[in-house]
Amino acid sequence: MNESDDRQRLAALRAEINQHNFRYYVLDRPAVPDAEYDALMRELEAIEAKHPDWITPDSPTQTVGAPPSHAFETVEHQVPMLSLDNAFDADEFAAFDRRVRERLGHDQPVTYLAEPKFDGLAISLTYEGGVLARAATRGDGRRGEDVTDNVRTIETVPFRVDLPGDSRIEIRGEVVMTHASFAEINRRAERRGEKVFANPRNAAAGSLRQKDPRVTARRPLHFFAYGIGAAEGIEAPETQSGWLDWIERLGFAVAEHRDRVEGLEAAQAFHASLGEKRAGLAFDIDGVVFKVDSLADQQRLGFVARAPRWAIAWKFPAEEKLTQVRDVEFQVGRTGALTPVARVEPVAVGGVTVANITLHNMDEIERKDVRIGDWVRVRRAGDVIPEIIEVLPEKRPDDARKIELPGTCPECGSEVLRDETQAVARCTGGLYCPAQRREAIRHFASRRAMDIDGLGEKWITLFLERHLVEHVDDLFRLNRDDLIALPRMAEKSADNLLASLERAKETTLARFLFALGIPLVGSETADDLATHFRSLTPLRQAKVEDFIEGRGIVGIGPKREESLREWLSAQSAEPSTPLADRVAASRPHGIDEQTLERVTAAFETVGDLARAAEQGQLQNETITKVPGIGPEIARSIVAFFKQDHNNEVIDGLLDAGISWPAPKGPVEDAPLTGKTFVITGSLPDMTRDEAAARLTALGAKVTGSVSSKTSALIAGEAGGSKLAKAEKLGVPVLNAEALARLLDDPANIIADP
Ligand code: IVH
Repeated sequence: MNESDDRQRLAALRAEINQHNFRYYVLDRPAVPDAEYDALMRELEAIEAKHPDWITPDSPTQTVGAPPSHAFETVEHQVPMLSLDNAFDADEFAAFDRRVRERLGHDQPVTYLAEPKFDGLAISLTYEGGVLARAATRGDGRRGEDVTDNVRTIETVPFRVDLPGDSRIEIRGEVVMTHASFAEINRRAERRGEKVFANPRNAAAGSLRQKDPRVTARRPLHFFAYGIGAAEGIEAPETQSGWLDWIERLGFAVAEHRDRVEGLEAAQAFHASLGEKRAGLAFDIDGVVFKVDSLADQQRLGFVARAPRWAIAWKFPAEEKLTQVRDVEFQVGRTGALTPVARVEPVAVGGVTVANITLHNMDEIERKDVRIGDWVRVRRAGDVIPEIIEVLPEKRPDDARKIELPGTCPECGSEVLRDETQAVARCTGGLYCPAQRREAIRHFASRRAMDIDGLGEKWITLFLERHLVEHVDDLFRLNRDDLIALPRMAEKSADNLLASLERAKETTLARFLFALGIPLVGSETADDLATHFRSLTPLRQAKVEDFIEGRGIVGIGPKREESLREWLSAQSAEPSTPLADRVAASRPHGIDEQTLERVTAAFETVGDLARAAEQGQLQNETITKVPGIGPEIARSIVAFFKQDHNNEVIDGLLDAGISWPAPKGPVEDAPLTGKTFVITGSLPDMTRDEAAARLTALGAKVTGSVSSKTSALIAGEAGGSKLAKAEKLGVPVLNAEALARLLDDPANIIADP
């Protein structure tokens, strides 16, 4: 090797080893076996031994671990990352095609490369000597953010590609998230009470812009390359499609549905055909991008300010259709809620025939002023659930009828009540109402609940009609003779159903709780309850206070707390001065008499109040003790277990032999069992009680004072004496950020004290 080869190889090796260090040290997810890493290191050492003056302090041979992350520095794009012009229909696309031909000065059909318009976020990957050197977001097109560390966690972004040592190329494309991953991430977020993402695009963007690459690494992202930016030391092909084939050969994912199309008609056909495939794709696309295939022609066409003249994004139309409302029926759900459902003239929307559209509740009917006979514009929201967008008043027939809430339940005739504060109307029939019973049993048997295979609506209705089953516990008392006596029940089906019931008896506490159909308790909440209570008995006995606790002083919010602080700072009284006296002498502003009385009743001296104010304990707030359970759910749970008839059914189920694995020992297998924490100071994202509840749920103990046995002190702002003590005793101190990471991934963070 000559000197210049050595130089290039040295740079490439350093870059690659740094990537492996990052994967190994930061992500805990090495990309290559140790032997391969060692070989790279040896090669680098050999070159450095040959040229000792090339050794720099930042060479991987001289450093340990991973270089510090340079999250979100600004990166200047060598070639701006442009936007695309849009076409919204075939005419606009035809106009674009015409302009292209005019500018090129011919009237031959133009060949375009057609591919999906991915609905994610654009990034640019720079490879130097074939090694990924930098990844940047589009930003404002000229300057983006450096997201290299995060992009390195994306499986479909190669670290190293087979390119000459002196080459430098920018691969551009889109980072997307699949529908399935999006749903999973939102499920997880919901379970933790965190904010959910509105759509996969936001989820992808949010995941890529995480400060901690380990978080990004847990979010399944995909990268699709669609072009190149700056390129040096690489022989360019003659066409856009040539570039894409080349990029694909390098090892990147490119659009599977891409094609060269010649002329207007072929372009339109591609657009129509991809539009049909759209609903079945794993990720969102929102149109077709057409790019003039010849790179020479692209050059001739050039750019306008923000977009190339040689490309266009032909967007898919939002799936909207007109149809007519034939009737509105009210369905009775498991909790008795009456849901109005519009029966419309069947119409195809986004490849699916829509005949029934929920109107949710009477408020929505009134707001949209939907009447029977109306023409309505419908769409599939998020391309899944059909909805009525609006009524077309100009097409309203003279005999259109207003929709009235029925006074009695359409299924059982019981009175229907509509709570003034709530939009929902409910059947008051309770378990007398066959619809409510049917839905309760259906819910009980459903997949995420007891998962009773083969127990569908048809059988449930029949069991109810024949009075074989009234409540869910009766299911387990069905016998073979009862079943085979039923019409259309073959012996084999009866045996299968009995076997499913038998299998379903072995379940989990979370499934069982979900199956009970406690109002407001969905499967995520049921998980939270099972994690916290670990067995049924304490949950059945729980009081509202076991879930939530009121804190601070009623009537004090952030503003009044501030007024009190101001008042305090204006007082020159001794801390031991009785508060009532001081208040009588000088009244704090903006606090009404009643609230002020509560304050003086709660604190004896000025000093007591000052301490509470300093520790942020004045504001009235509700503290949740069980993660994920707010006051409304808590009240609903307690009310449910108070009802005798619910307890009878639960006992019946337990008698029938429903069981779940007993929790092992005292929170033995929870990740933080045996750890003791102390919390001090104020945390930005949660109250101390919330933090304590979440740690306890993970098996930890939370105590009030720091000792040598404390595993760690969680210190927010203004830690004070506890912080000093922890430091003296050498107890590890975690800040808010470290706490968040600990709660997120308890196994990974904390070492034994
Ligand atoms: S080409 C100069 N191709 O659309 C051409 N962009 O509206 C620049 N996008 O920021 C882009 N799929 O994030 C191109 N197949 C595709 C694309 C695509 C999605 C995005 C890209 C760009 C935006 C412009």
